[in-house]
Amino acid sequence: MASGPSPYAFPLKVDDYASTPVPSMEEWEILWKAWDLVTAQMIPADALMEQPIPLRNPLKFYVGHIPTFEDIHLARATGTPLTEPASYARFFERGIDPDVDDPRQCHDHSELPTIWPELSEMLEYRENVKRRITLQYDTGRAYSDRSIGRALWIGYEHEGLHLETFLYMAVLSPNIKAPPDIPRPDFAGMARDAASRRVENQWFRIPEQELTIGYEDPESDDGPDRYFAWDNEREPYDIRTSAFEAQARPVSVGEYAAFLIDTGKTDEIPAMWVKLNTCDGETDGVPRGHDVEDTALQAFIAQHGHRTVWGPIPLSQAVDWPATASWNEMTSYSEWKGGGVRFPTLHEVRSIHEHAAQLNEGQLLSTTTTTTSPSHSNPANPSKNKDMHTDPESIFVDLGGANVGLQNFHPVPVTHRGGRLCGLGELGGAWEWTSTVFAPQPQFKPMDIYPVYSEDGLDGREAYWVVVCEAMDVVARASAAAEWAAERHVLLDTAFENMLQQFDNET
Ligand SMILES: [Fe+2]
Repeated sequence: MASGPSPYAFPLKVDDYASTPVPSMEEWEILWKAWDLVTAQMIPADALMEQPIPLRNPLKFYVGHIPTFEDIHLARATGTPLTEPASYARFFERGIDPDVDDPRQCHDHSELPTIWPELSEMLEYRENVKRRITLQYDTGRAYSDRSIGRALWIGYEHEGLHLETFLYMAVLSPNIKAPPDIPRPDFAGMARDAASRRVENQWFRIPEQELTIGYEDPESDDGPDRYFAWDNEREPYDIRTSAFEAQARPVSVGEYAAFLIDTGKTDEIPAMWVKLNTCDGETDGVPRGHDVEDTALQAFIAQHGHRTVWGPIPLSQAVDWPATASWNEMTSYSEWKGGGVRFPTLHEVRSIHEHAAQLNEGQLLSTTTTTTSPSHSNPANPSKNKDMHTDPESIFVDLGGANVGLQNFHPVPVTHRGGRLCGLGELGGAWEWTSTVFAPQPQFKPMDIYPVYSEDGLDGREAYWVVVCEAMDVVARASAAAEWAAERHVLLDTAFENMLQQFDNET
């Protein structure tokens, strides 16, 4: 029982979100509407200098960063000067992504202005850049000049990714405001409904598979009009994954709370949780006949809340949501589970998603641990990503029904999904951690137009791939390719088989 879709929902069908390599003007309009909402209406202007994540720039930086990044790439592609004030390219070109353990270790980044521009000036600059983008479509150059098309593509995906990260930071702020035109969801009702639909989180056997990771993009303007790729999405390479078992769905908030109680780590709550200033807490929605029968657990849940853009809600109303936690937190959870349980590698996540897609297509019968799957059944075309990808269906997937792309501004329950293997985008609104260290893919080559994109994730620091889609997650176009991005972690969440996520993407 979700409350969506919201008036800010991004399209989820391939034909609607990736019909051409260059995002359409309509896609820009949807993105701008969402960006204006979160930066201008969901955070008060006088709170923009907050740093909800202390290792990040103030929120106001991103108000300048988004149009500046787009303008730099359009100026390069068109061979024309930067939009004024050109000094924005010095202040807002690149954010920061310091080492979590040693913040002194930080890649090259823009120097913040000593005196920040007035917000009105920054918003006027953004409008000027938006007009520059619109002009590319009015003149037809967006589609006739592939260099300009690539600049528009990277600017679009960059803004979408930052929409996600801005929201993640903003929801940590005490000054977050809900979207003014979206009614507060009935969280208590959703919780009661979710509690009544819980099923056992089954184990599924994932067969040995041959898969292709990434897709082809020589970053050439010759040849057919084909899809673009970030440096960490290319070039395609083949893998063979061994058979393994995976649980159907991510770890839930309630399960993570039980872990904290059992290990005595009750003061180590995830960043998305808050301790409520109440002695008895809110118990409405606390499911009975489940793990919360335990008195200590029930008391703990009653004393905590889960952050939302509507402010904290009782944790009892979120126990069926996916748990979002940092990589270290989820590693501890896995160790506590014992029995060799861990979260999956990047390739294993791809294998899970591929197998889930096959099951959903009815190509295989139900395969719990009690049944046998073909040892290397992979009906998908293993070479599909190696061609010049002019066909969006070859690299993007329909995400209908997934809680992504601002269908909602909150996670949705996952505990009813225990009988069916969750695939891409089916984690209730969370990204998915992997245990694979972020490192160059085979044939890795920095992007000609943005050579530093993956650079700071490849400097030997501890960083892990995260499979995107979910959370409040924004851009279906970027999310759709399971192998898409690699984020470095910093705060977030995960769950287990299928552990979830958080991410962070400071490009
Ligand atoms: Fe960025």
